[in-house]
Amino acid sequence: MGSFGNPDLVEIETDILIIGGGMAACGAAVELMRWAPEGMRIRLVDKAAMERSGAVAMGLSAINTYLGEQDPKDYVRMVANDLMGIVRDDLIFDVGRHVDDSVNLFEEWGLPIWKQPGDEDKSLKEGGMPVRSGKWQIMINGESYKVIVAEAAKKALGMDRIQERIFIVKLMLDSNKENQIAGAVGFSNREDKIYVYRAKSILLVAGGAVNVFRPRSVAEGMGRTWYPVWNAGSTYAMAAEVGAELTMMENRFVPARFKDGYGPVGAWFLLFKAKATNGKGEDYLVKNKAMLDQYPPYGQSKVPATCLRNHLMMKEMREGRGPIMMRTDIALQTLAKQYEEEFGEKDAKKKIKHLEAEAWEDFLDMCIGQAGVWAGENIEPEVRPSELMPTEPYFLGSHSGCCGIWVSGQTDISPTEWCWGSNPPAPGADPGPQTATYTRMTTVRGLFTAGDGVGASGHKFSSGSHAEGRIAAKALIQYAMDNKDFVPTLPRTASELAEEIYAPVRNYLEHCNYTTAEDVNPNYITPKMLQSRLQKIMDEYVAGVGSFYTTNETLMTMGLAKLQELKIDSKKMRAKDLHELMRAWENYHRILAGEAHLRHMLFRKETRYPGFYYNMDYDFVDEVNWKCFVNSRIDPKTGEWVAFKRAHIDLVAK
Ligand code: ADX
Repeated sequence: MGSFGNPDLVEIETDILIIGGGMAACGAAVELMRWAPEGMRIRLVDKAAMERSGAVAMGLSAINTYLGEQDPKDYVRMVANDLMGIVRDDLIFDVGRHVDDSVNLFEEWGLPIWKQPGDEDKSLKEGGMPVRSGKWQIMINGESYKVIVAEAAKKALGMDRIQERIFIVKLMLDSNKENQIAGAVGFSNREDKIYVYRAKSILLVAGGAVNVFRPRSVAEGMGRTWYPVWNAGSTYAMAAEVGAELTMMENRFVPARFKDGYGPVGAWFLLFKAKATNGKGEDYLVKNKAMLDQYPPYGQSKVPATCLRNHLMMKEMREGRGPIMMRTDIALQTLAKQYEEEFGEKDAKKKIKHLEAEAWEDFLDMCIGQAGVWAGENIEPEVRPSELMPTEPYFLGSHSGCCGIWVSGQTDISPTEWCWGSNPPAPGADPGPQTATYTRMTTVRGLFTAGDGVGASGHKFSSGSHAEGRIAAKALIQYAMDNKDFVPTLPRTASELAEEIYAPVRNYLEHCNYTTAEDVNPNYITPKMLQSRLQKIMDEYVAGVGSFYTTNETLMTMGLAKLQELKIDSKKMRAKDLHELMRAWENYHRILAGEAHLRHMLFRKETRYPGFYYNMDYDFVDEVNWKCFVNSRIDPKTGEWVAFKRAHIDLVAK
């Protein structure tokens, strides 16, 4: 039996390793088991418990991507517009043509989806019409959304293929074959055990990144952010470290949310038709509309891009006309009046009560903390409006952001430059001839991703991430069958790896008796302190909330130097228990994700996403020189990081 500081080493061999347990992983699990030939070895590791892990853990009140009758090409147009034009049309189209299948599965597995009157007993598959909150969004009773989706994944895989509470620290390349994935190493956060996986292929789906920037929450409130606090940038960092090409890491998402509880705004804007106003009661979207003329064509579309909507809101805040208020009061009172006119006073009463219940349920389904704020501050939404606030920045590829990893497309819809498999492209180069292609494979052979991991393809949300996990799974099966004879060879022994992973534990055990207060010690730094330092750097130099999302080249260059110092000091992190060991390695992932973001921002000489961040040296969108992907890669041999352009192609006429 291992002990703290002296863990057991467990070595496992597998054909396919899934890292993560969120929506994409659950989609992959179901699809893999449908196609895997007899004897194929598959394993899934999750740092938490699948039932409540990933971004959907708390539940959701809507599914934001369901196409129904609509054309996937229109979906591509919407996503491209929202992300200021620079997206992979092929990947988005691919999600669009498959996403409804996943939603049908959710309903089959027991997820209650709101239906139009008269269609309550008809499933979507049987032609039941959903209640749409918006053009692409449908309403659900989704408190147990993740539980339902995870149950299906667990049932498909079987618990003997699943390991929960294991945190993966790093991936490894093969020692014989160049640019070939060969395995991963991690540790249990419940037992003193290190796990070394030899894997012929890996699906890396460990979510986006939260808490790289200093959050608006303080003290105990720091457990609350909009995207889940446990998303540590592991997907981006671990892929980058083995040399996978990243794309659009300069993109970030700064959602406008209900203040302090980070409650969702989608249902309010779309379903309840609420408006947001400045402190003087003015509709800033109307008042500042002319500002959008500066950003054609994205600003002039019917629904301006999310960052541009922020842009108009932030002007009011910057110039002292806050707070921004979500007019829940006006929205609910207007709907109540409509009901009275339509149904008469008596019937309207019942409907209004139902409406108010729906307003509360929107929070209770997916952001219970916001309902807590309402209760704690005596806010009756039908009487009093609530404050909105732009949050700290997040990195993600599935919601209204698009940073991530550069992946192969599908041969039937993607240009040849974006398709590879057996022969991944060198940085900035085209892939050249291929013997086989595998969609969602990164530029590292055998390493696949989906969901938040896939870059330049946002607005998948929960359903699209699940669908993309399924898409990737099919390609993985093909890859595994085509590479049956490959024997992965790890570059280091299990005990060498254990030494590296447990270094924060050694730091603690060696030095903890030096002082009487274990958190104050010249020989080590606590993960919490290191994280504060990272957040302060990102906040002050890389356009966080402290500088109201503004920065410039001088600031970023200084920030980059500070990150290098932070990386050196990160070797001094301590871990006094297994939980802190996870915190230590999460921080390491966050630093790399933050560094990727900063390097991409420095490279892009424009402000592509006003309202998400402003590079004040180039405070404009430059369609001539910068309507292109910014990609980057770390050379895994030298550690050198290079950023470069890749041409953008519009596949769907906009
Ligand atoms: S989430 O936290 O549930 O994911 P939210 O409830 O805000 O977020 O829903 C986001 C969805 O609503 C996305 O599909 C987003 O594009 C859409 N959305 C939010 N606000 C608006 C708006 N003002 N106009 C159009 N679409 C919006």
